[in-house]
Amino acid sequence: MVAGMWIIAFYLLGTVAGKEVCYPRLGCFTDDPPWSGIPGRLLTGLPDNPEDMNITFSLYTRETGNNSQLISAINCSTIQNSHFSSRRNTTFIIHGFGSTGKEGWVVEMCLLLLEVENINCIAVDWKEGAKGTYISAVNNLRVIGAEIAYTIKILKKVSRCSPHDIHLIGHSLGAHTAGEAGRRTPGIRRITGLDPAGPCFEGTPPEVRLDPSDANFVDIIHTNAAHFPAVGFGIHNTTGHLDFYPNGGTVMRGCTDLHPDMKQSEFEAIIADATVFGGCHHSRSHEYYFKSILYPTGFCGYPCKKYDSFDLGDCFPCPKEGCPMMGHYADRFPAKLERINQKYFLNTGADPPFAAWRQKVLIQLSGAKKTKGNIKLVFHDAEGNTKTYEIASGDLSEDQVYVKYLDVEINPQKTTQIEFLWDKTLFTLLWARLGAETVNITHGDGHRSTLCGRGTVTYGVPQLLTPC
Ligand SMILES: *[C@@H]1O[C@H](CO)[C@@H](O)[C@H](O)[C@H]1NC(C)=O
Ligand SMILES: *[C@@H]1O[C@H](CO)[C@@H](O)[C@H](O)[C@H]1NC(C)=O
Ligand SMILES: *[C@@H]1O[C@H](CO)[C@@H](O)[C@H](O)[C@H]1NC(C)=O
Ligand SMILES: *[C@@H]1O[C@H](CO)[C@@H](O)[C@H](O)[C@H]1NC(C)=O
Ligand SMILES: *[C@@H]1O[C@H](CO)[C@@H](O)[C@H](O)[C@H]1NC(C)=O
Ligand SMILES: *[C@@H]1O[C@H](CO)[C@@H](O)[C@H](O)[C@H]1NC(C)=O
Repeated sequence: MVAGMWIIAFYLLGTVAGKEVCYPRLGCFTDDPPWSGIPGRLLTGLPDNPEDMNITFSLYTRETGNNSQLISAINCSTIQNSHFSSRRNTTFIIHGFGSTGKEGWVVEMCLLLLEVENINCIAVDWKEGAKGTYISAVNNLRVIGAEIAYTIKILKKVSRCSPHDIHLIGHSLGAHTAGEAGRRTPGIRRITGLDPAGPCFEGTPPEVRLDPSDANFVDIIHTNAAHFPAVGFGIHNTTGHLDFYPNGGTVMRGCTDLHPDMKQSEFEAIIADATVFGGCHHSRSHEYYFKSILYPTGFCGYPCKKYDSFDLGDCFPCPKEGCPMMGHYADRFPAKLERINQKYFLNTGADPPFAAWRQKVLIQLSGAKKTKGNIKLVFHDAEGNTKTYEIASGDLSEDQVYVKYLDVEINPQKTTQIEFLWDKTLFTLLWARLGAETVNITHGDGHRSTLCGRGTVTYGVPQLLTPC
């Protein structure tokens, strides 16, 4: 009976499919499958007229500073009269559902990129197309992608820039917009998908969503990947050459806004007529990318099958070929094009700047056959920052080696000193003393170092560790 109703529903949808709209410059758009009428895309339809969406391209260069210039493919003199230069690389930044490219993270990203490289940075605004329901924005991104592809075509004609100089960065629905622009423009150098949207895209054919064929290199940061029974805004499956799943890819450290007990059906009802679509986890993807520009080694991704086993210490250190960095410098990884469907895991800090450096530590204690308490390591940098990590607690003995994987929020290259610290419990003898006989540290690149404490210390008193 239920199956019968589904067949009727499919049949009805099938009869309404087959419509098409055509727009000047951009061509025609149909609602034939896979655009509509397939599982996951039963409610989608045709895009609105781009004339109603006020799509704008704001150019930022080192010459413009904050005062961007509007460029338009319809009026070539706006390009010729701008600071756009084909001698530089060009980056387009594309926002997602319910957002804007006129202010906020899109503009901040352009300004930061310009501090580290001399590029043309183009902030794309499609606010008018992205502000209705989620479904209408899903439909509209097809014309936005086509409009970006058309703009690239005109830039090529006017200034002889090549798709090979172009990097598209898109968040959420903006990631699939970049995919659509890339599908229409062979030879784009790179597309970065920042938590590509899941609803209406998960499990769909590659044509409909961002996928590795949309550019020479596609890198993805998953920060709110939906995986039943958990709910999220991001796509769960791998969809690039390098897919990074920080903190497992679903729930981000320091965020508290997910409703883990929401039912999948409730979530789908919200998605169907959502007009706000935000969330801390989902936004972390562009925040991590932003910080990765400032902390090039702080987001190392380890290839592994499952997050849980990575978190417990599997897949460490990096394999012989090394590890890619999540974010801006992902394209420096030599093996970046060698395979798809490989997940890369890392843990981040809970607070900005989020960067962390994974280390395996082994501690051999001295001073007590048996006592109770906890042992910690304290990392210091030259700016006076300290980070403290607990290594073990409970029964402590010099006959046991304590092992812990730490995601240290201080760059090992900037670490000025490491201290051993222990604390007692109610039952610890007041005169008990402990020391770190040896502390062995393995870094992500496989590099090891050994530190030693001198003698023992009483609880609460740090013991400086020095090379043995
Ligand atoms: C789009 O831009 C035109 C001209 O700049 C303006 O008149 C119109 O109000 C804008 N539409 C929206 C929906 O913002
Ligand atoms: C823009 O200009 C203002 C004022 O000149 C300046 O303080 C600021 O650093 C610039 N950048 C941003 C992101 O506002
Ligand atoms: C094209 O852009 C220029 C500015 O670069 C402007 O002066 C001119 O009026 C525009 N032409 C049209 C037809 O909009
Ligand atoms: C463009 O970007 C690529 C990749 O990051 C880089 O190798 C190249 O030097 C850049 N070109 C220019 C002109 O900056
Ligand atoms: C994930 O993507 C891969 C490759 O695109 C595909 O083979 C696989 O079936 C997908 N898995 C799911 C659960 O959609
Ligand atoms: C720590 O490293 C030193 C030197 O490499 C080694 O002799 C010692 O056995 C290691 N300690 C542990 C607990 O593995």
